[in-house]
Amino acid sequence: MIFIFSLMFWVVVDSHKIQNQIYDRFPEDFFFGVGTSAYQIEGAWNLSGKGESIWDRATHTTPYITDRSTGDVACDSYHNYREDIRIVKQLKVHCYRFSISWTRIFPNGTVNNVNQDGIDYYNNLIDGLRAVGVEPMITLFHWDTPQVLQELGGWASETMIVWYLEYVERVFELFGDRVQVWTTFNEPANFCQFGYTQVSAPFLNSSGIGSYLCAHNIIRAHAGAYDLYQKKFKSRQKGIIGISLDSFWNEPADPNSEEDKKAAQFSLEFYFGWFAWPIFKTGDYPDAVKLQIARRSREQGFPRSRLPVFTRQEQMKIRRSFDYLGLNHYATFLTKPDNQTASMFPTRQNDRNLIESVDPSWKPTSRSGFTVRPESLRKLLLWIGQYLGSHVKIAITESGYNGADTETLDDPERIDYLNGYVQAVLDAMNQGANVKAFTWWSLMDNFEWGDGYTKKFGFYHVDFNDPRRRRTAKKSAKVYQNIIVTRKVDPTFNPSYFKH
Ligand SMILES: *[C@@H]1O[C@H](CO)[C@@H](O)[C@H](O)[C@H]1NC(C)=O
Ligand SMILES: *[C@@H]1O[C@H](CO)[C@@H](O)[C@H](O)[C@H]1NC(C)=O
Ligand SMILES: *[C@@H]1O[C@H](CO)[C@@H](O)[C@H](O)[C@H]1NC(C)=O
Ligand SMILES: *[C@@H]1O[C@H](CO)[C@@H](O)[C@H](O)[C@H]1NC(C)=O
Repeated sequence: MIFIFSLMFWVVVDSHKIQNQIYDRFPEDFFFGVGTSAYQIEGAWNLSGKGESIWDRATHTTPYITDRSTGDVACDSYHNYREDIRIVKQLKVHCYRFSISWTRIFPNGTVNNVNQDGIDYYNNLIDGLRAVGVEPMITLFHWDTPQVLQELGGWASETMIVWYLEYVERVFELFGDRVQVWTTFNEPANFCQFGYTQVSAPFLNSSGIGSYLCAHNIIRAHAGAYDLYQKKFKSRQKGIIGISLDSFWNEPADPNSEEDKKAAQFSLEFYFGWFAWPIFKTGDYPDAVKLQIARRSREQGFPRSRLPVFTRQEQMKIRRSFDYLGLNHYATFLTKPDNQTASMFPTRQNDRNLIESVDPSWKPTSRSGFTVRPESLRKLLLWIGQYLGSHVKIAITESGYNGADTETLDDPERIDYLNGYVQAVLDAMNQGANVKAFTWWSLMDNFEWGDGYTKKFGFYHVDFNDPRRRRTAKKSAKVYQNIIVTRKVDPTFNPSYFKH
């Protein structure tokens, strides 16, 4: 089967915009997918020549994982990838979004030391997916920095840009003949913010300085990867390349308060705009963000802003370095201004100076503060269309329901969430949002970062006590399959289980 996935991804847009059509179901060229990431599923952390990543190091040496678990084995996808392909096929998705573990291919981070077993693993996965008609969609970096490079500064060091570009160039050479959709980074705002507030690896405590350096280098690395692909690979490989940014949705705490409305807008700019504005608009950070961090830095006695500055040349390269925007969305907050004074120890929290909360009447998930608000996704998509422009094609690269570890194969909450959020995407499209794809998080239960195995996101349950890590479909898997086949949400669809 020959795929022209990226080509279709392109073409749709323009017909959509001209006709301004109202859809009663998702158009034929809308893609549905399902996602995972390497550290969360692969296991085999120290087998077949793989090197150590910051998540290997952190789970082995820090006290920060709720259940003190690790991704040493996880879903053992390194050994069970054929089973992964089988369940991906069962869902009838068009694409499977997964990430490459940098240290599985280059154990020390640098490309001089190549691990052929790692290359074989991804070749088998890519070829196996294509053989069953599923398009591979590859995330080049999903948080698992090589430990060797972390010790040289990690993403706070600009040398990371060069190492990253050497790595992605080799990945394009190795797999690009069979891969059409690339994502440079997954949720860099989350990675750079929470990696420097001791919530995520590398578990550092420097959000007022380290987070900004991290973001600055990732934005430059992203633009470099985009540029490299255009110059060396695009004409032959014909793929598309974007970045997955996560965004909450912020509502004013008091919908009639101008101050709260400004606060909600600022919160979106401070987190999502931090990456989106440079890459999708101007090549530089949003003015409101620059002003606020500069003001705080001055109050704290810094001789210049803690937010680094792009050169003119960098800005030219960064602006419009995208084929599409990947969007990850999970939660909604009510927002109002705070009145913190400048802290001695600089933090992003103090820079942002906002108070966020959730309405107690909103339906909760198993993670506190994360609620089920499908209309937030619709509003966010429309807001992005205005903020960045409706020419920006959006692929929803993650959304999903955060289940408790007590959940069973009968998962009505996940089904409600799924129906609500997928319908919200169609509603947004009917109001003009330029959405091309929806990729659910996650294919199967896996290692949920700081929450270890205590949170469940999968369409498939994984038995973590079984040495074979048996995967079993939950009811929601069947509902998603029905959405994909019928291209619409049917809240009355009464699912049975897949036969095993
Ligand atoms: C790999 O890690 C496991 C722990 O997950 C450990 O028991 C085993 O000895 C390690 N193997 C090698 C070859 O280091
Ligand atoms: C490089 O990776 C190899 C595994 O391939 C490991 O044995 C070695 O210790 C690493 N070197 C450094 C400097 O970490
Ligand atoms: C980070 O460091 C600052 C300054 O030493 C300290 O006040 C703060 O509690 C630390 N944060 C965490 C999460 O440890
Ligand atoms: C800051 O806000 C708190 C409540 O949010 C209030 O109690 C306090 O008086 C305020 N301080 C100033 C200086 O406005």
